[in-house]
Amino acid sequence: MDNDSLKKIISHSKEYGFIFPSSEIYEGLNAIYDYAHNGALLKNNIREYWWRSMVQLNENIVGIDSAIFMHPKTWAASGHVDAFNDPLIDNKDSKKRYRADVLIEEFIEKLKSKIQKEVQKAEKRFKEKFDKVQFLNTSPKILEITNQINELKSRMISAFEKDDLVEVKKIIDDMEIKCPISGTCNWTEVRQFNLMFSTKLGASEESSMDLYLRPETAQGIFLNYLNVQKTSRMKIPFGIAQTGKAFRNEIVARQFIFRMREFEQMEMQFFIKPGTQENWFNHWKDKRLSWHLNLGIDPSLFRYHDHDKLAHYADAACDIEFNFPFGFKELEGIHSRTDFDLKSHEELSGKKIQYFDPELDKNYTPYVLETSIGLDRMFLAIISNSFKVETLEDGSTRNVMSIPKQIAPNKLAVLPLLKKDGLPEYARKVMNEFSHKINLVYDEKDAIGRRYRRQDAIGTPYCITIDHDSLKNETVTIRDRDSMKQDRVKIEEVKKFLNSKIDISIWLKKLSW
Ligand code: GAP
Repeated sequence: MDNDSLKKIISHSKEYGFIFPSSEIYEGLNAIYDYAHNGALLKNNIREYWWRSMVQLNENIVGIDSAIFMHPKTWAASGHVDAFNDPLIDNKDSKKRYRADVLIEEFIEKLKSKIQKEVQKAEKRFKEKFDKVQFLNTSPKILEITNQINELKSRMISAFEKDDLVEVKKIIDDMEIKCPISGTCNWTEVRQFNLMFSTKLGASEESSMDLYLRPETAQGIFLNYLNVQKTSRMKIPFGIAQTGKAFRNEIVARQFIFRMREFEQMEMQFFIKPGTQENWFNHWKDKRLSWHLNLGIDPSLFRYHDHDKLAHYADAACDIEFNFPFGFKELEGIHSRTDFDLKSHEELSGKKIQYFDPELDKNYTPYVLETSIGLDRMFLAIISNSFKVETLEDGSTRNVMSIPKQIAPNKLAVLPLLKKDGLPEYARKVMNEFSHKINLVYDEKDAIGRRYRRQDAIGTPYCITIDHDSLKNETVTIRDRDSMKQDRVKIEEVKKFLNSKIDISIWLKKLSW
């Protein structure tokens, strides 16, 4: 996969009603997108898969849906007013803006791939005699690169910890990191830029209050923590989950829906006893990865990335990365957030937000383990993994979206072979059998082959075709999107078949949480 395939995915998404650029008739808005019919269906299905796995399958996780607007003190307490900044740097020749930490991290990735190349070369040369561990520990070239990586990492961490932007710039200069567009090292200074959008609440200038659009949904959970704990009578450990919009004035917004200014998060805060965070961190790392793999996506497309540079609230953090068309990038974050948020809210609000532990017979501020995934980013992972241009036996090509069947936008297309002889009426009757249960498409236009292609392009797992025999013996042909195999079955069988293949509860059961 490369950027060319991303371009194809973007144009396919528009042509087949998944995603439109927002406000297109006014030339659009950078990094803002609208979801079209098929996109909205797919997004709902991903959200449902997340919600039901987290809330329905875990009796100690409850859901909420908090407001986007929150008291402005929230963001002072959470640290977002002071610390939700990106360190930005501009290249004077290309006029492109970058996040300084990302430039350095990408440089480190390049050094790592140099090691990988050296290993591959040596493997070829020494064949079965090759000892990888020995090679990594003794090859002078590898040792030099490994040292460079380690030094660079510790310089970067220390510079960010001290908020020393002059040192960050010096690292970029010392490493001669180049702008990917202009290829030059002609950089500006590094400076911090706060990512929150602000707005006003109230009718008049004098009485209005400055508000922020929430940059994460998590704070709505923290502010409701006591209410939820009391009303749902939860005992620690327990979790609160929610999905909803978040807003960030991303400067380096690109790569389609990967980094947007308005996006949706699916977050869960798990409240735990202090000191148990390491166990729960590993527990949720495993659980969340198994959630992704349960969709049947190739496991080699996922990897963990433990953070060296931690956010202001975390004592450990790990990303689940996905191999997007532009390489491995963060899809989901698992963060050990300590008691930072609850304690800060306690201090600033003056209200006690503690938990009475009946087993220990004492009060404490719980620690928090967070899982946080971008719904739009998950959407991109799904469509970029599903979109294929296949060459068929007869030399023709088809565009197919092999979206995991349980979350496909439409589950079934009903296609009368002809627009006459009672076939459309019969097809409508068949539709009525299913339309209360699943999303369906009815299509009677064009030759049947073209109709199949249209359904392949929007990822519909099954098409049933109604022909003259259907009227005689209540049978239809059912065609599988991926194998393109067609089977003749009784209409009664279709129901059972669909239940066994696409009902989301089967996939939830497979999770065995
Ligand atoms: N509450 C923690 C938090 O917000 P984060 O790593 O900043 O952590 C969590 O964001 C997830 O939200 C990311 O892993 C990503 O999937 C998604 N996300 C963050 N910024 C995004 C953006 N600008 N556009 C789309 N998704 C984004």
